Amino acid sequence: MIDFKALAKQYGTPLYVYDFDYMSAQYTQLKEAFRGRKSIIAYAVKANSNLSVVQHFAKMGSGADCVSIGEVRRAFLAGIPAYKIIFSGVGKNDDEIREAIEKDILYINVESEAELQRVEAIAKELGKVSRISIRVNPNIDPQTHPYISTGLHDNKFGVDLLSAKRMYIQANNSEYLDPVGIHFHIGSQLTQLQPIREAAEIVADLIRSLQAIDIELKFFDIGGGLGIKYDDEVTIEPYDYAQAILGTLRALDLTILCEPGRFLTANAGYFLTKVLYEKQNGDKKFVVVDGGMNDLLRPSLYNAYHKIEAITENNGQTREVDIVGPVCESGDFFAKNYPLPALNRNDLLVVHSAGAYGFGMGSNYNTRGRSAEICVEDSKARLIRRRESFEDLICLEQEFLVE
Ligand code: LLP
Repeated sequence: MIDFKALAKQYGTPLYVYDFDYMSAQYTQLKEAFRGRKSIIAYAVKANSNLSVVQHFAKMGSGADCVSIGEVRRAFLAGIPAYKIIFSGVGKNDDEIREAIEKDILYINVESEAELQRVEAIAKELGKVSRISIRVNPNIDPQTHPYISTGLHDNKFGVDLLSAKRMYIQANNSEYLDPVGIHFHIGSQLTQLQPIREAAEIVADLIRSLQAIDIELKFFDIGGGLGIKYDDEVTIEPYDYAQAILGTLRALDLTILCEPGRFLTANAGYFLTKVLYEKQNGDKKFVVVDGGMNDLLRPSLYNAYHKIEAITENNGQTREVDIVGPVCESGDFFAKNYPLPALNRNDLLVVHSAGAYGFGMGSNYNTRGRSAEICVEDSKARLIRRRESFEDLICLEQEFLVE
């Protein structure tokens, strides 16, 4: 049991707390699910890019799935070896492509025909061969929130099957490209197995048709997306997930590459925020807290549900309240019509499932410094990012003030 009250007292609020032991258990469970096959779990750094979090996974043998050269650099700093780092994203610029090739990462995941030309041209300039995979858009509805659905032709991600085949042929004929992998990722917070199975089946068929023309790939990159329980969702068991994927491969001998983010970190994370005031406008009751949408954006952006627990002496009857932050936006809320008991100033609220897409989607809006982040490992807490000060926020601007 994590003593949230003691942590809030020691480190202040708002505060992110990550349970590293929980992250380890999730990692092991997924890795085990693919036992019997060669597999790399490449942690999706975007979910929580704190260096110590990435280092924690590095120590467990994880690779990294990155979507910017900044994330690639984080992965290196955290100790992930080049041969387990992949670089995806629809809009890589030339400098990013160059650095990825120079750093000799496992592969660049190419998301368009135009990008393939750029990667080839840059590899040629450098006199190097770039290992690539191609992100296929299988046009499958993942049945998740539209903002985090990525595998439909309506979404900007990947290329259709015909283009992918053309691109593999081109890459295979190029002196500067080495096509080693194939990738798909149909969306995030997936709770249905069927769309994943269908997508994998489509991509596995493409691999077989490439084999027929002597294009042999090594990596079957199944993306991330495994959903978690925010509330009472029925989630996919890692074992069933692995079986569904492996079932589509049949005799194909490929290394599985899996890019989980949320599954590894979401339920390891808690966001702690303190009650400032209670107030009432007409019939509406508000609990105003010291954390805001700049700290945890998911409720505002996706109307996402996060379980919220109050740590208070008042264990009386609950009433429905909106839990809101100090930011100047009506969209600055953590929950609406949420049942909580009457609260006092300084009572603590623990927002659950905040370990993925929490801190990382934060901002400095309203000149609010980002929260501190701490981890708890073997029952011991330690700081992994200090709270941002006012000086941190202005240091890139101050020198430009005019006399
Ligand atoms: N691989 C690729 C290519 C991705 O685009 C993503 C997530 C992942 C792996 C990791 O997906 P995960 O296992 O975490 O579902 N901000 C949103 C989620 C955006 C996901 C973007 N891509 C949220 O807060 O729900």
